[in-house]
Amino acid sequence: MRLLPVMEGLHSSEALNPSFLQAFFQRVEELAARPSDFEVALRGVMIATVFAEPSTRTRLSFEAAAHRLGASVLTVADAKSSSNAKGESLADMAKVIGGYADLLVLRHARDGASRLASQATDVPIVNGGDGRLGHPTQTLLDLYTLHRAWGDFAGRTLGVMGDLRHGRTARSLVWALAMLQVRIVLLPGQGLDWEASFERRLLDRFDYRLRWGKHPLFGDWTGNQEARILEPKGLVQKSLFLEDVPEVDKLDALYLTRMQVERGADIGQGSYPGITPAQLQNPLLATCKLLHPLPRLAELPPSIDDDPRACYFEQARLGPVVRQAVFLAMLRQDRWPLPPLTPVPTGNADHRLGPCPNANCVSHEEGLSAPWRLIGSKRRSFLCAFCDTLLQVEYAGCRSTNKVHALSSAAAHRIRPENLQPFLSRQDAERAGYQWGG
Ligand code: CP
Repeated sequence: MRLLPVMEGLHSSEALNPSFLQAFFQRVEELAARPSDFEVALRGVMIATVFAEPSTRTRLSFEAAAHRLGASVLTVADAKSSSNAKGESLADMAKVIGGYADLLVLRHARDGASRLASQATDVPIVNGGDGRLGHPTQTLLDLYTLHRAWGDFAGRTLGVMGDLRHGRTARSLVWALAMLQVRIVLLPGQGLDWEASFERRLLDRFDYRLRWGKHPLFGDWTGNQEARILEPKGLVQKSLFLEDVPEVDKLDALYLTRMQVERGADIGQGSYPGITPAQLQNPLLATCKLLHPLPRLAELPPSIDDDPRACYFEQARLGPVVRQAVFLAMLRQDRWPLPPLTPVPTGNADHRLGPCPNANCVSHEEGLSAPWRLIGSKRRSFLCAFCDTLLQVEYAGCRSTNKVHALSSAAAHRIRPENLQPFLSRQDAERAGYQWGG
């Protein structure tokens, strides 16, 4: 049975917005308070869960969510058991499964897999974690856990610690927290910081600024007592005007993550940041909620599990009910409507930009030209529309005048978005028939 209307799917936390989240949290509360009202909400619906990377929480909580709503489940729990092992493309697999199921939950090792799969089928794809890019339903349950603890988000301070470079959960959560005006203290392991372009994009998108703040515990964790802080420009901290690098006096939450060895993380002889029972005595953490997407390694010792600030098993327990709300949002807008997600452009594959510079972009494995999309209004940039990697575009052609300009020029800025044609070099543009316009 195909239920209409549906949302197009959920690929990244960029699609989340405050009005969707507010209504989403209310729906989760309804589902938790009155589970029997929803027992047959998806009767006759088929959900496919395709996990090409290992998972405990995400796959099983999606499947529990489907069963709680009366849906049936088809599952591929291991890529080796599917025709992926024979070399079938992700696009073909998504197209075929789209003929069997009403919604596909996908986990995949490549960045942008969920977006690519959604172009091959018209059933909604829900990203269950793709490469180092996104894990938006983990973000929904992280946000819901914080919402239960905090109420409002604005003005709160959250530290994010560990492998920011390779981990998708931290990246995905931080984007959503910036949308909600949360101050974020960055505590990456040595050599495990994310790329500067991700942070610049976030600062521009949410009118945030970057500053530094200090605390002795930051030194224990990262080897540097000073940490980068991303915060809304509107947020004023009194001590900011008294000290060059003010002391951070409180963390409202700390989001710990494990080292992603399977994605190439390596700290050599260095130490990986984690929490200890002794550190929990520090006033910085007096009311700090401890979150972790799990699975954990040594960064989060079991000896602190009974501490009232530990929220990570509660976080995991909320997985099924949060994912029930995701299914209803995608498949039962007729009966349980939610405000729309923010559309993220699918991009334009007509270009001479060459292959995506990100070696882990799904476009390489699939043999596809990665589409580009435009971001920013004052300062325009171009991203791979699959994996969000910044493209080194230096020139902008105008399809209406057939002229090409340096991207930084006023003339390039005046080109309407629908007429833009990006180029890496002036020669590429001239070879494509554009004339130099200065
Ligand atoms: N948090 C999370 O994604 O866990 P799994 O890898 O077990 O799904």
